[in-house]
Amino acid sequence: MALIPPHSGSLINRLRTGPQGEALVAEAAKLRSITLSQKQSCDLEMITIGAFSPLQGFMGSADFERVCKEMKLASAGSEGEAWPIPIVLAVPGADAPKVGEKVALKTPGGVLQAVMTVKEVYPHDKKMMIRAVFRTEDPAHPGVKQVLDEGDVCLAGPVDSVLVCPDPSGPEAFLEQRLTPAQTRAAFEAKGWNTIVAFQTRNPIHRAHEYVCKCAQEICDGLLIHPLVGETKKGDIPADVRMRSIDALVKKYFNAATTMVTVMPGAMRYAGPREAVLHAIVRKNYGCTHFIVGRDHAGVGNYYGTYDAQKIFDTIDPKSLAIEPLKFEHTGYSKSYGGMVSGKSYPKIEGDIINLSGTAVREMLAKGERPPVEFTRPEVADVLIEWARGAG
Ligand code: ADX
Repeated sequence: MALIPPHSGSLINRLRTGPQGEALVAEAAKLRSITLSQKQSCDLEMITIGAFSPLQGFMGSADFERVCKEMKLASAGSEGEAWPIPIVLAVPGADAPKVGEKVALKTPGGVLQAVMTVKEVYPHDKKMMIRAVFRTEDPAHPGVKQVLDEGDVCLAGPVDSVLVCPDPSGPEAFLEQRLTPAQTRAAFEAKGWNTIVAFQTRNPIHRAHEYVCKCAQEICDGLLIHPLVGETKKGDIPADVRMRSIDALVKKYFNAATTMVTVMPGAMRYAGPREAVLHAIVRKNYGCTHFIVGRDHAGVGNYYGTYDAQKIFDTIDPKSLAIEPLKFEHTGYSKSYGGMVSGKSYPKIEGDIINLSGTAVREMLAKGERPPVEFTRPEVADVLIEWARGAG
């Protein structure tokens, strides 16, 4: 059986190698250059490898507006396809390049990442985007702040990249696990998997995460644990620590024959519901047929309702989405039951479920305390404690 088709039909590859890549490098040396923020660099990588298919570059104003207003693309060829968050290259207006100009896009470390042909320059309607995407204008929201801080003019146009990973020697490169969508699809084919469920996370995998993964795994050929390793907010546990804890967990508690762990280089936006849809579309591009959406997916603080990120899928054309969201209620370890449950599988009893927020876990770790085994496996706790000691 063939794997699920990518979003809008074909997998994009904007990486130019060999003589084409060399020509780009030579050309870039003569162009004006823009140093990207970490988020922009992550977005560029996602476009390059086809994780953001059908995007071939940063969005123009028609896509921007329709995505904000209708959660759909407007550009010819993919018009009407679901898309929840504008992917823009916002720069300061004062010295913006002109339409028709080519610019060299550099990583935050100053290395050439791509050449972009500017097809459109338009004012960044931050208000429209922030309201639509984040459902709040509170500048304390990390995603809102990110948009407020970026430039007020957007550059649109296709990119031709010479680099995949922006910082291949950095702590967040994970080169062996940084498979592109094409490589991930090839791995699924080699394993003979047709139905694959993806698990997005920006945290160490605690027992609740593990439980939803296991439930989903029971009904699919394979599980792709797909941690996001692009930009996250201050306060989130660093990606290399998360990966160490995930590797330790998977080695002991998962079946290697039905589990794969690779990384997703996108940046977090903390946009809750809209970001859940983006996460799902991206995983479809990687070849996954199912996507786990639990409680407050991609949320932060109290900006979104517990199940808003599940409800949004009911408003999206399932034909365009194609990947199936697997929705899970809030799960946790029940003392009276003696195992993992949700309110759906076991009656809610006040104070019965052992539940800790990410902040509570970090506070425990900072005090040298071990999170309870009902919340976090000892192998994961060991990695986190070692990190907290070093960080403290
Ligand atoms: S996220 O920003 O990547 O969504 P996180 O890593 O905390 O954050 O969550 C990963 C996935 O697990 C999300 O789908 C989230 O909804 C789900 N999840 C996290 N905790 C629970 C829980 N206690 N019960 C059910 N689902 C959960």
